Amino acid sequence: MKYLTIALAKGRLAKQTLALLEHTGITCEEMKDKDTRKLIFVNEELGLKFFLSKTSDVPTYVEYGAADIGVVGSDTILEEGRKILEVLDLGLGKCRMCVAGPASARELLKKNEIIRVASKYPKIAKDYFYNKKHQTVEIVKLNGSVELAPIVGLSEVIVDIVETGSTLKENGLEVLEEICPLSARVVVNEASMKMQRERITKIVKDLKQALNE
Ligand code: PRP
Repeated sequence: MKYLTIALAKGRLAKQTLALLEHTGITCEEMKDKDTRKLIFVNEELGLKFFLSKTSDVPTYVEYGAADIGVVGSDTILEEGRKILEVLDLGLGKCRMCVAGPASARELLKKNEIIRVASKYPKIAKDYFYNKKHQTVEIVKLNGSVELAPIVGLSEVIVDIVETGSTLKENGLEVLEEICPLSARVVVNEASMKMQRERITKIVKDLKQALNE
């Protein structure tokens, strides 16, 4: 039996996904060892391999077929724009992609002024402002703690993930516009879906059922 390889995004989502997989009878004992430095884990019996990667790399591994299946947030899928199949919404890690800033920036968005937008997601920000709002903006790529940008005067607004809203609130910022809802998705390599359709479909179907239990 050929191995099926599953790529998981390091962190909380990987843990939640593994718990969900356990419900479907897919386990990987090796992966539970917290002290391990191993990068890839095998379940010989089920013919499965698992690896943990940086979140933003999951769609890349899946597009190139280095992983047959991946589990990753829709924010990363949208930002990476890889040629992959999105087959299931797991509904985990629900949050929203938003334009946020100080209340005073609301007017700047209405008037279609040329403003600076800071984001970890320049592609999503560009698509929203250029293709949906038809507003010319300057996009500044940051790598984290994006809420800092409007506070220190780097940008007027930000495009970022809002989950509870507490990071914005504690920094005197608010949601100004909502871009889209986000959640974790199962993605599949296009060729794998053709060659291993039965096995992949079974895993996806079992996951779907486990979500409803
Ligand atoms: C994310 C996001 C926001 C925060 C939103 O940051 O970029 O900063 O969580 O969550 P909240 O609405 O519940 O406050 P993350 O913790 O991933 O770190 P980062 O700032 O380095 O991106």
